[in-house]
Amino acid sequence: MSETTGKKAILELDGKKIELPIYSGTLGPDVIDVSGILKEGHFTFDPGFMATSACESKITYIDGDKGVLLHRGYPIDQLATKADYLDTCYLLLNGELPTAEQKQSFEKKIRNHTMVHDQVSRFFNGFRRDAHPMAIMVGVVGALSAFYHNSLDIENIDHRDITAVRLVAKIPTLAAWSYKYTIGQPFVYPNNDLNYAENFLYMMFSTPADKDYKVNPVLAKAMDRIFTLHADHEQNASTSTVRLAGSTGANPYACIASGIAALWGPAHGGANEAVLRMLDEIGTKDNVAEFMEKVKRKEVKLMGFGHRVYKNFDPRAKVMKQTCDEVLEALGINDPQLELAMELERIALNDPYFVERKLYPNVDFYSGIILKAIGIPTEMFTVIFALARTVGWISHWLEMHSAPYKIGRPRQLYTGPAQRDI
Ligand code: CMC
Repeated sequence: MSETTGKKAILELDGKKIELPIYSGTLGPDVIDVSGILKEGHFTFDPGFMATSACESKITYIDGDKGVLLHRGYPIDQLATKADYLDTCYLLLNGELPTAEQKQSFEKKIRNHTMVHDQVSRFFNGFRRDAHPMAIMVGVVGALSAFYHNSLDIENIDHRDITAVRLVAKIPTLAAWSYKYTIGQPFVYPNNDLNYAENFLYMMFSTPADKDYKVNPVLAKAMDRIFTLHADHEQNASTSTVRLAGSTGANPYACIASGIAALWGPAHGGANEAVLRMLDEIGTKDNVAEFMEKVKRKEVKLMGFGHRVYKNFDPRAKVMKQTCDEVLEALGINDPQLELAMELERIALNDPYFVERKLYPNVDFYSGIILKAIGIPTEMFTVIFALARTVGWISHWLEMHSAPYKIGRPRQLYTGPAQRDI
């Protein structure tokens, strides 16, 4: 537990002064420990957890006003450009970037666990072919709980560690298969000669008939960067869901499945898919002005814009935009939808409605465009977010289980009927 600053907040309740300790983190605002007001017969009220620190964490820091995102102290743009996704995974899981030797051994471990139990492949058949791949992911990741009975002791550090490796290693296989299933193609098994991002693209796009399939290195690099930019994001809705589920002692595969479910919503990870659907709906540049009027009348939201924490710019969006430009140039793509997106961005960044509300493009605004350029179908966008975020979720789950914790149990302001008789 962090030290108190010695400073105290004084809360006056019914004339009684209550001292509340204040803690300081390494960075960010001090926090007031309000737990002491419980014995005074009060709860706190903070719908949406706008001002609530739900836990202490050493993994990720965000300064929303300055557009800063640090993983274990390292800025996201440096990780995205000077490291790769597996470096970032190692960093999130272990606290430090790997040495060359550590990286080699971590990568080997991940490669050793890319296969899933063959029985898992049968679960897919229970879904309709037109199932959304996120529905399949919630199901099959949760189903992994049934395959590792001998390593599910959450008190055992070795069990926790092997679970983290299994999840990071297997999630691309399950993600690619959730796509293959919906298009009726055979599952492609992992090829452990390939690196993490290459392997994912290989399982997505190769077929047994195409013996010469080669992964395009430009696309693999872009994919790796997309994974890195989505790896973790502090106590967002899905991570908080994983922590809350984990606080009950639920097994880690079930916890990650709950994170995938929370991520699916359009206000969270589902936004990247929603951006493309929005661009489809707008159609052409001529319709942008009319669409923006609808947004201002609050009839629709401008998907890919706004963020609970970032009120200046999303540092991930900056790197994503740059990657987007590089990929489109390397592939020689001149996508009219991209022009449309740029027009939306231009208007939004200059219109007082968006400026006053501090609504800037977030990571999902550009990731949808770049994923489309890579050839990823729209309904797979959120699956890719889930794939990349799995390491963040499991890092938070590991952190929670490496120290004492209490079951998460919020209270409420009850406004229903008072007790009455039948
Ligand atoms: N389009 C139009 N208006 C918006 C938008 C938007 N995308 N986002 C917020 N606003 C308005 C909102 O109507 C409100 O206006 P007013 O003050 O007049 O009532 C004001 O801006 C403040 O918004 P809020 O709803 O209080 O903000 P929030 O912090 O509760 O919501 C958000 C954050 C991300 C849920 C929201 O901005 C949103 O729904 N954005 C679109 C979905 C999206 O792109 N999500 C991806 C987030 S980044 C990836 C991730 O981490 O998951």
